[in-house]
Amino acid sequence: MPPLNFIIDEKKCTGCGACARDCPNDVIRRDDGKVGVTAESAAGCIECQHCLAVCPVGALSVFGLKPEDSFALAPEKLPTAAQMKLFLRGRRTVRQYAPDPVDKKIVAELLTDLAYAPTGCNDRALIFSTVRDRATMVKYLEKICGALTVAKRAGRDVPDGLWQWVECWEQNGVDHFFRGAPQLLLISLDAAKEPHTGVADVLIAGAYFELLATAAGLGVTWCGILSMVLNAAPELRPEFGLSPDGYFYALLFGKPLVRYARTVQRDHAARITELKV
Ligand SMILES: Cc1cc2nc3c(=O)[nH]c(=O)nc-3n(C[C@H](O)[C@H](O)[C@H](O)COP(=O)(O)O)c2cc1C
Repeated sequence: MPPLNFIIDEKKCTGCGACARDCPNDVIRRDDGKVGVTAESAAGCIECQHCLAVCPVGALSVFGLKPEDSFALAPEKLPTAAQMKLFLRGRRTVRQYAPDPVDKKIVAELLTDLAYAPTGCNDRALIFSTVRDRATMVKYLEKICGALTVAKRAGRDVPDGLWQWVECWEQNGVDHFFRGAPQLLLISLDAAKEPHTGVADVLIAGAYFELLATAAGLGVTWCGILSMVLNAAPELRPEFGLSPDGYFYALLFGKPLVRYARTVQRDHAARITELKV
């Protein structure tokens, strides 16, 4: 952890205690209306920055970060519930892509924003790996088809669905694996950081990416098929920068060649139950 560097601007601090109340690990102690941390309590800090975020007067700095460098959260700048609802209902899996890649700056910004996705205990042990162009995607396709062919010939289990897609690509040039997408984001875990909730962290980051990329006008497809491929042909894992058993999920993305005119209509009677003890 970087040095906590917990600094209170005494001229601004009103002693309201909001920082201490919102600290998830009781790192911040309040004594006689004054807040502070001890060497012992600081050890429990998970670097969530809630103290910096919650202070109503911007009196608190941690890790050398200045509150004035954060975005102010004015309610009128946030999307309304109705806007969020339309956006979420209108989001679709895109399976038609332009071959040219998305501007590198846009991708870099999206990946930077993924740092704002929640992770268990604020572990942030995620690794984001990208494929940047269609030519590289096609090289991966060739490797996938080659490896699945070898696996099938060796009598290993290759699900029929996967094998049909190998044939589609090799015989007709139709790419069901990557849906013709020019780019891929693979989210994996830094095992050395021993994340508490690694699988959830990966999937939450994927969902954030899907929504952020959609909001930026891009198309996204969750690529569950790559998980199936790497189960059937684990020898390909190093080609994707993956350890033999580390968890990952992949998402395809690019400029969409399809626009949806309306939302779909899902089951309104979601299964909702009330738990009681
Ligand atoms: C975890 C996950 C994995 C998926 N894997 C694939 C995939 O490999 N290929 C594909 O074309 N779609 C994939 N999808 C997209 C689903 O088929 C799609 O979300 C579903 O049909 C509903 O359509 P919608 O996303 O437009 O609402 C995946 C979706 C999820 C959530």
